Amino acid sequence: MAASRNTGQGSSPWWRDAVVYQIYPRSFLDTTGDGVGDLPGIAARLDYLRWLGVDAIWASPFFRSPMADFGYDVSDYCDVDPVFGTLGDADRLVAGAHAAGIRLLLDWVPNHTSDRHPWFVESRSSRRSPKRDWYYWRDGRDGETPNNWRAAFGGPAWTFDELTRQWYLHLFLPEQPDLNWGNPAVVEAMHRVLRFWLDRDVDGFRIDVAHLIGKDPALPDQPGELGPIDRVGIHDDPRTHPLLRGIRRVVDSYPGDRVIVGEVNLHDTSAIRAYYGAGDELHMAFNFLPLSTPWSAGAWRGLIEVVERDLGREAWPTWVLSNHDTSRHRTRLGGAEAVSRAAAVLLLTLRGTPFLFQGEELGLEDAVVPAERRVDPGGRDGVRAPIPWTGGSAHGWATADPWLPWPPDADVRNAEHERRQPRSILHLYRRLLAARRASPALREGEVTLLDAPDDVLAYRRSTAGDERIVLVNFGQARVEVPLEGRWQLDVASDPAVDRWDGGVPPSGAVVLERFVRREGAAGSVPAGGGTTGPTTPSRSR
Ligand code: NOJ
Repeated sequence: MAASRNTGQGSSPWWRDAVVYQIYPRSFLDTTGDGVGDLPGIAARLDYLRWLGVDAIWASPFFRSPMADFGYDVSDYCDVDPVFGTLGDADRLVAGAHAAGIRLLLDWVPNHTSDRHPWFVESRSSRRSPKRDWYYWRDGRDGETPNNWRAAFGGPAWTFDELTRQWYLHLFLPEQPDLNWGNPAVVEAMHRVLRFWLDRDVDGFRIDVAHLIGKDPALPDQPGELGPIDRVGIHDDPRTHPLLRGIRRVVDSYPGDRVIVGEVNLHDTSAIRAYYGAGDELHMAFNFLPLSTPWSAGAWRGLIEVVERDLGREAWPTWVLSNHDTSRHRTRLGGAEAVSRAAAVLLLTLRGTPFLFQGEELGLEDAVVPAERRVDPGGRDGVRAPIPWTGGSAHGWATADPWLPWPPDADVRNAEHERRQPRSILHLYRRLLAARRASPALREGEVTLLDAPDDVLAYRRSTAGDERIVLVNFGQARVEVPLEGRWQLDVASDPAVDRWDGGVPPSGAVVLERFVRREGAAGSVPAGGGTTGPTTPSRSR
């Protein structure tokens, strides 16, 4: 029987109470033996994702690609790369996900194509090509690049093409020329791509570097002080907004609450806020600040304040700790499992939609990739290591020799082993997802930061009829946290904690709910000193 898809609570659209799980298809599961994950591999693990309790998958690009940037260089947006399978496999994946009650978001790359995309091949062929203006071709300045922009993977953002003796713009690799969204024919062609996939029933898109698509055709220099900084983290052009509104109109013309979540790689939440428009641009924008926020109560408190202040009531926040571009948070935060467990509690109890990266639920660390096996121009191989599903040499893959080495301790940090261990981090993630689903306060409630002892981040999540308190201890010692009223444990990061006793273990976190007398129920005993000295809201919304 088909599982029902989360349709959102009340008037709230589904994606506001969803947990989204990012799949990097190359590294999820290989069913063919070529060492690269594929679409049938994803389809084969939908039962696992359903068991875990995620609401939606975002799949990194699986379109045809020469793989200079492993799929973020697309040579045909309307076909599946043979390494991942076929269009039929994609259709089966959409249908299978929907049958499992899981939505599917595709990773659409609008800012650039591959240099092998037929559009660019044609554009490059002659200055008089009808597609010349689909990309940015410019004359140099005194034999140098047309402006001072730098590319994300290093070097100038321009490559000189001998054939037509002009430069073309690429904010990433030379193999990823930037499309000119100032040309209406490009807009129309890319809208057709969206419709192609929306007609195949995908639930929306993660939009790669959404903030880059609008550009001043004069392509002016960056001011001197920004000159050496790559363009991606600072580009913020008003021309992007009408383009996003056009994309949104296409998506909104389909039934079923399709969604667009955009990568806006700016490091300022008030700048990110602009990309939600007046509710007519992105439904959600990624906020990458958590990826660089130090593991301290003060830093996280500051971040939550900034997000609440800058995004306000209309722009729904997103939260993320790991993705395919950055070191896994377990590695980044020093490698201790206790810290990753506490981080999971934090990620999954904040106000906004959390995005998980495949394998974080297994407590994976980055793989150590020897120099001779490194393949990524951006140095991101370690985080992209294959997911171990079982023990044994092939870890459930069709080959023991995948495209990248396995992450550390894969003999025990694998899905099969952890699923058998009720105290594993995998079970913690599952419990947290269930706790979110069961609690309107965790899904959609207000967040109120509370005063708390040093090293502890404390907040309340509340709706009219529901309430939770979350305590995260960033320190190395147990901390007693006096709370007003009587509380009981909902979820603890530390598997040894089975009740609320008034304190949080070192590198630990708890989710508490109001005490209700339930005879004999585990975790229902309130703390002895639970009603001493109040913990009061320090900020209220
Ligand atoms: C952002 C993606 O997340 C990253 O993996 C990719 O290299 C760049 N955009 C270029 O598409």
